[in-house]
This record gives sequence, C-alpha cells and structure tokens, in this order.
Amino acid sequence: MRKIYIKGKATLKGEVQISGSKNAALPILAATILLKGECTFTNVPHLLDIITIIRMLRALGIKAEYIGKGRVKVSVNNVKHMAPYELVTKMRASFFVIGPILVRNGLAKIPLPGGCAIGSRPVNLHLKGLEALGAKVKMEHGFVIVQADKLRGGKVYLDFPSVGATETVMMAATLASGTTVIENAAKEPEIIDLANFLIAAGAKIKGAGTEIIEIEGVGTLHAVDYPIIPDRIEAGTFMVAAAATSGDVFLKGVAVEHLEAVIQKLKEAGSEVQVEPSGIRVKGRKPIKPLDIKTLPFPGFPTDMQAQFAALLACAEGTSVISETVFENRFMYVHELNRMGANIRLEGQSAILHGVPELSGAPVMATDLRAGAALAIAALMAEGETEIIDTENHIARGYENLIEKFKGLGVSLKDQINGSDAEKLGPF
Ligand code: UD1
Repeated sequence: MRKIYIKGKATLKGEVQISGSKNAALPILAATILLKGECTFTNVPHLLDIITIIRMLRALGIKAEYIGKGRVKVSVNNVKHMAPYELVTKMRASFFVIGPILVRNGLAKIPLPGGCAIGSRPVNLHLKGLEALGAKVKMEHGFVIVQADKLRGGKVYLDFPSVGATETVMMAATLASGTTVIENAAKEPEIIDLANFLIAAGAKIKGAGTEIIEIEGVGTLHAVDYPIIPDRIEAGTFMVAAAATSGDVFLKGVAVEHLEAVIQKLKEAGSEVQVEPSGIRVKGRKPIKPLDIKTLPFPGFPTDMQAQFAALLACAEGTSVISETVFENRFMYVHELNRMGANIRLEGQSAILHGVPELSGAPVMATDLRAGAALAIAALMAEGETEIIDTENHIARGYENLIEKFKGLGVSLKDQINGSDAEKLGPF
C-alpha cells in the first residue's frame, strides 16, 4: 500500500519543470497503430498510465518502449485485433485503440471498460461515431466487436463534445475513404496535439481546436517523430499549490494558452500570476477570496482542476460554489477534505464550500487521481502531518516525479510503499 506523508504549513518556493501531457500522449501512442514504421516521441511523462498504453501496444504485437528522458520508441508492423481485458480495466484510455485497430484489421475486439470511480463513463459516443463511418458494432461476452472492411467518411454529430469520442473518430477517419465531418467536436488542446501528430504522419485534418473538424481520408500514414505538449493539468496543480501556500513558484515548460481559465480563477482568488516569456510565476496571497466555478469543456474551466481548487477554497474568506457539469461523482474527495477540517456540503452536482481559517493534518484516502492532488494541496496548507493513503497508486498515474518536484520546492514529505521508501523501489 502506498502512503504519502506530507508536513503541513509549507510555503512552496522555487522553480518547477512541467512534464509532457499524459492525456495528449495516450491517444497519440494509440494512433501509432494506424501507421507502419518507427516513431520516437519526446516529452512523454514517465507515468503508470503511459506504461499501461505501452503494455497495450506490446500486447497487440507492436514494439514499444520507454527509452528514458521522456522518450518512447514505437515500431509498428502487424497488429493483432484483440485487446487484453486486464489492460482495459486498468485504464479506461486503453479503449482508444479501438478505432486504429479497426482501421488496420477490419475488426477490433475490445473489452468494455467497466464502471469507473468518477462516474459511469460510457463509450456510446465512440461507437456511434464508428457506426457513422460504416462500422458494424455488437457486444458479446463483455467485448465490443467492431467490424468494417473499409470505413467511409461521413457526418458525425457528437451529443456531447467528448474528448475521447472526438479522438476515436478522428483517428478512424484518417484512413477512411472520403471526407468525415465531426460536429460538436471537443476543442481541448489534446485534440489539437493528436491532430498535429496525425497531420505530421500524412493525415489531412482541418479545424482541430474548433467544434467542426474535417478529415479527408488518405491512403496511408507514415512514421514520424513527435514532441508531446506540456501537461496543463500538472501545471494547474502546481499553480494552485503555490497559491494555497502563499508560495512563489515559477513554472517552466508550460503552454500559457492552455491555462487561461485557471489563470483567471487564480487571479480572482487573489493570487498574483505573471506570464513571462519562459513560463508562469504564481505568488499566493492571503486572504484567499471565494470563487464560483463551473466545470465545462475547453475553453471552459477543466473538470480535472476542480478538486485542487476545492482544496484552495476550503480556506477562503467566505463561501464558494463549485458546480460539476462534465462528470457525475467527481466530489468523492469532499468527505476527505472535511476530515481535515474543511466545511464543504454537497448539493447535487455542486459543492458549497464555507471557508475555514485552517485545516488540520489527518489520515485521508485518495479516491482518484485529481482527488489525490487535492489532498496533497490541502496537506501542504494544514497544521501538522497528513497521511495520504493511495492504495491504487492514483497519484503516480498522473504526476511525474511529484515527490521530487515537491521536495525541490521545499516541501518535507515521505513516499512509502508497504513501509519502504518508494524512491528505492522505482516508479512502478
Ligand atoms: C478525458 C480526459 C479526462 C478529462 C475528460 C474531460 C483523457 C485520457 N482523459 O476523458 O482526464 O477529465 O477528458 O475533460 O484524455 N461520455 C458519454 N459517452 C461517451 C464518452 C463520454 O456519455 O461515449 C460522457 C462522459 O461520461 C462524461 C463526458 O461525456 O460525462 C465527458 O467525457 P469525455 O470528454 O469523453 O472524457 P474522457 O475522454 O473519458
């Protein structure tokens, strides 16, 4: 069992290098299934989820390896059509392989991803999109089976601008015959990164980053080396940690244009945010002012940042409201924050946060990745030591070298797996 012990009343000071984006790297690595040859990716974070997608590629017969210093090498020749159950249940994003496998083999057999801690997270929009391109879809013995000798371009309207479904359709459409138009597409920076990778590999895609994406099918894609964009959620998490601890942190390697909503909300909360040519500086200021936050698809406020803001606002001078509109069940961290002395009440899909003067360290449980990040921020603010119990390794799934990065900013903490120093045991 993993436990992270964090000493409270910290003030984060110094510089931190932001890693590459996990959520951009995952679909891009899956998209290599569409091509033949060898690609080297740079700025890939060394995270459990990345190792899981690498294992998935290997299980499909592809050579894939994390070769150090943020680089992943993938060499694709033939691809199997069936994805192993253990990997899809371990990480929902493994489902991304469905479109590329279908295109390569005319058939893909993928286990249905089960329920997930942050809501039911269905895959109906992914499948609706593939059907619109001519695939036949059926469910059998817990597997989704999709079949099509050759996909043909078509019009796909997404009922919700789902990030994953936009990516699935975009990948499948690159090698379809004719033109595909995705309406109400997701506009997240990770969509643009996937499109840029596919374009570099020979795809014809217009409009990524807007709500209408047009993909003109091409005959083949070729191998290409590609750098992954910076992780906007990791950056946002460090920005909130700086704000919450009255710190002064300079973040290097960030894409400012991906962080507008977070920057605006931090300024509203009273923090100083300076955009400089080589990064962003955040200086936390007391009192923390209360906020109203509503999560929305990009460019709205990201759902992946609401838990971290809740930790900050737990100690605001006044009452804040956070409304979650993207996922159900994303407030599981609230009970844990309340165990640390926060005063947060849930009303349907909103959390009402009455600011308290101080939190106190306590043993708490990380229920998902961003909940773990929120608890780490609360722990930095709290009086005394907090023990974050992270049985499922959630934090290691999403934050590269979090412990080292926090230490570099002056935090005193310990990371243990079954009582032994996690650093000595290696990252995974
Ligand atoms: C991605 C991110 C995740 C982020 C989320 C929203 C990755 C690996 N994960 O997840 O960190 O929180 O975007 O920004 O990139 N939905 C359906 N049917 C579908 C697909 C989705 O109803 O077929 C619903 C979901 O249940 C959810 C909403 O659409 O309520 C948004 O989900 P989606 O944008 O697809 O998120 P993910 O791609 O799973």
